[in-house]
Amino acid sequence: MSLSCVRVGFGSIARIHEDVLGRLGVETVAVVEADPGRHDRIREVGLTPVADYGEAAARRPGFWDVCTPTESHAEVLSAISAADRDADVIVEKPICDHGDLPVLRPVLEGHRGRIVVNENYCSSVVTEAVVGHVARLALRPTKVIVEMTKHRGPDYLAGRFIDPVLGAFGYEGSHLIAAVASLGESYRDGAVYDLDVDDIALDDAEGSVLDDSAWDAEETQGRVVLCGQGGAFVGYETQSGCRVELYTSMSGIVGYPCPPYAPPSARIEPTDPVTRYRVFRVDGTDPSGTAHQVVGFYEPLPGRARGEGAVALFREWEMTDLLAPLGDDTMIQHLHRTLRHFSGQGPNPCPPHWAVRTLEQLHRWAVDGRAEPGIDSGDVLGRQDSAAERLRESSRFTLGAAAGERQIR
Ligand SMILES: NC(=O)c1ccc[n+]([C@@H]2O[C@H](COP(=O)([O-])OP(=O)(O)OC[C@H]3O[C@@H](n4cnc5c(N)ncnc54)[C@H](O)[C@@H]3O)[C@@H](O)[C@H]2O)c1
Repeated sequence: MSLSCVRVGFGSIARIHEDVLGRLGVETVAVVEADPGRHDRIREVGLTPVADYGEAAARRPGFWDVCTPTESHAEVLSAISAADRDADVIVEKPICDHGDLPVLRPVLEGHRGRIVVNENYCSSVVTEAVVGHVARLALRPTKVIVEMTKHRGPDYLAGRFIDPVLGAFGYEGSHLIAAVASLGESYRDGAVYDLDVDDIALDDAEGSVLDDSAWDAEETQGRVVLCGQGGAFVGYETQSGCRVELYTSMSGIVGYPCPPYAPPSARIEPTDPVTRYRVFRVDGTDPSGTAHQVVGFYEPLPGRARGEGAVALFREWEMTDLLAPLGDDTMIQHLHRTLRHFSGQGPNPCPPHWAVRTLEQLHRWAVDGRAEPGIDSGDVLGRQDSAAERLRESSRFTLGAAAGERQIR
């Protein structure tokens, strides 16, 4: 594929895009970067910083690649559209801040080019494999779980991104919805039966920029409490009666441990910046009434290389098959599908209306979840009975004597 792009923003994710798109045969013809202090760095890596969008458009790029902070996405998309209404654009996720939707909507309406959102979990091989096994087994889903857990404490204390509006739903929220929506749009929303957003308390915060800052809800020196940033949980019932639970803990509390990859303890320690626990589980019954659990494990997995996921198949909670490793570099897969879309060879892997709906949905849950009455436990996400059911179910999984790993490579 021979294509060229203009990149907007040259921070952390932009460097990953430069590498991945380069491997996919894309040449970067210019970089629009607001911070002139970064222009030398852009030149050092052989790229050309330009002053404005007009100069960038004059280089006639095949598409634009927006890698600026989320709070600038609406304004940047507006500037690109003003420079070229027919431009094809990929914009990093989330599509914009919720408060900028009134600015974004008219831009989307007036734009004639193709826009793809880089919600890379829309292009996951693990997700596709889970959906494929659910179809192969002809399962009627009764319960669906998506969990994305890590410990963000050290990141927070280092002053990295806090989402004051979406709280903990802001980090992995759109990934959670991307996974569950792969079963069909009817699975992405429903009647809410439990909803919770928790705070996070961080000790050893001496010297952190957050200690005693406006974010810190705790007056004790050396201890930081961040409201709504510790974890988020929603349980809802779809129209077909399937229960869906979306769970994300930023405090490292694993909600739905499942063998063989659940960490031995149900917690990821604050000192562990590497471990992630990300699963997509579908429980259902086959036409004969037998219960199955199909569990996808996203990378990174303990003992596996980056980009390697797995799928475990359970019958009546006993593992029958472990399909691993499943190569799953969601970033390269999603960008590849995006290029195919721009070339007219495939559907849009994540259209703007999907991303806008996701943002609205997360915002609704974030607002309702933080309005919960009573004292926030800051620990157990959801009601006591939800948490108890979660643990009871998780303890039913067994590895099964016959379960062997089927190598995929
Ligand atoms: N898909 C993923 O898994 C994933 C992962 C990480 C980050 N992201 C998203 O990527 C985006 C960027 O995050 P990052 O961590 O790379 O940010 P960053 O702060 O490291 O880099 C942003 C860059 O954009 C520049 N910039 C800011 N406003 C600009 C403007 N109006 N015009 C031109 N340049 C501008 C900044 O100077 C900076 O160089 C965010 O939306 C984030 O949510 C996505």
